[in-house]
Amino acid sequence: MTRLGQVGLGPWGRNLARNFDDLGDLAWLCDVEEERRAEAAQRHSARMTGHFDDLLADDTVEAVVIATPVPTHFDLARRSLEAGKHVFVEKPAAMRGTEMEELAELAEQRGRVLMPGHLLLYHPGVQKLKEIVASGELGEVLYMYGNRQNLGTFRTNENALWSLGVHDLSVLLHLVDEEPVEVRAQGNSFLHPGVEDVVFCYLRFPSGKMAHMHLSWLDPHKIRRITVVGNDRMAVFDDMERERKITVYDNWRTRTGEIYSPQVDTTEPLRLECRHFLSLVAGEGDPHKAARDAIPVVRALEQLQASLESVPA
Ligand SMILES: NC(=O)c1ccc[n+]([C@@H]2O[C@H](COP(=O)([O-])OP(=O)(O)OC[C@H]3O[C@@H](n4cnc5c(N)ncnc54)[C@H](O)[C@@H]3O)[C@@H](O)[C@H]2O)c1
Repeated sequence: MTRLGQVGLGPWGRNLARNFDDLGDLAWLCDVEEERRAEAAQRHSARMTGHFDDLLADDTVEAVVIATPVPTHFDLARRSLEAGKHVFVEKPAAMRGTEMEELAELAEQRGRVLMPGHLLLYHPGVQKLKEIVASGELGEVLYMYGNRQNLGTFRTNENALWSLGVHDLSVLLHLVDEEPVEVRAQGNSFLHPGVEDVVFCYLRFPSGKMAHMHLSWLDPHKIRRITVVGNDRMAVFDDMERERKITVYDNWRTRTGEIYSPQVDTTEPLRLECRHFLSLVAGEGDPHKAARDAIPVVRALEQLQASLESVPA
């Protein structure tokens, strides 16, 4: 069983700790806030500390799980890799493309796994969508768009692009296996100065495909949807649907086609994501693919942020 240490015990960190405690040997939990440690101590028997270095100094710890705020990810991940640990780091693993490249390189040099937590890539619905796109069933993909809207949770430390957009971006790039050549973003901070709560993004790919993302936590609808339009068929991944996560619209050109929803596994995506990390640590699969795939995602986020800032609010 892999021996793990986790840093960050906020609401999301709690979910990760629950899974890693079930699936691995969770030896350490770390948070700078005493209250968070006390709360976690009620659910886990792991050793508690407020000092991240305690995890790194323990030679029996093979892997580190990072669930702290985004600006801290790069530094904590780099230090963990330098200490010879495998790393699971919440998304996005870095805030600059060059930093993401550095982390991926460091992991390869040290022969360690670095897996950014792009949760949706482990969602059986997204995997089914990828399978449908890759099989050619939709024909050639013409365009795609992501909707990630709801009312609240209003964040004050990261905007809708970094908090919500990273999910759609990771899926859109995964679906087409291309890096955008042009990105544009516009948004506004209606609730908290300087933190955009509504963001619209446009992306264009070398093949001519285009994509759009509507990201917002100031919206009457709760939507978690990705739509892919091909020149034969169209497919939708709708995470708000309980049963029909995927719908394929047949032959739109003749308007005679049928609609069908393939079966999708209902295992919790976070469980699958954590299991995937542990299987990589155990030596199964390509240990460096996840980090390499995250480079274009972070690059696109950085470019979209620059575009967002270039438009006066
Ligand atoms: N994959 C997903 O769907 C998903 C969903 C929600 C959040 N997240 C990500 O998970 C991460 C955590 O989210 P959250 O909402 O729990 O955040 P949070 O800010 O509520 O909690 C982070 C915790 O980390 C602690 N911390 C910060 N720096 C530290 C350090 N250097 N050493 C020790 N402890 C430190 C803080 O005290 C805090 O308790 C974020 O990166 C977020 O983007 C991912």
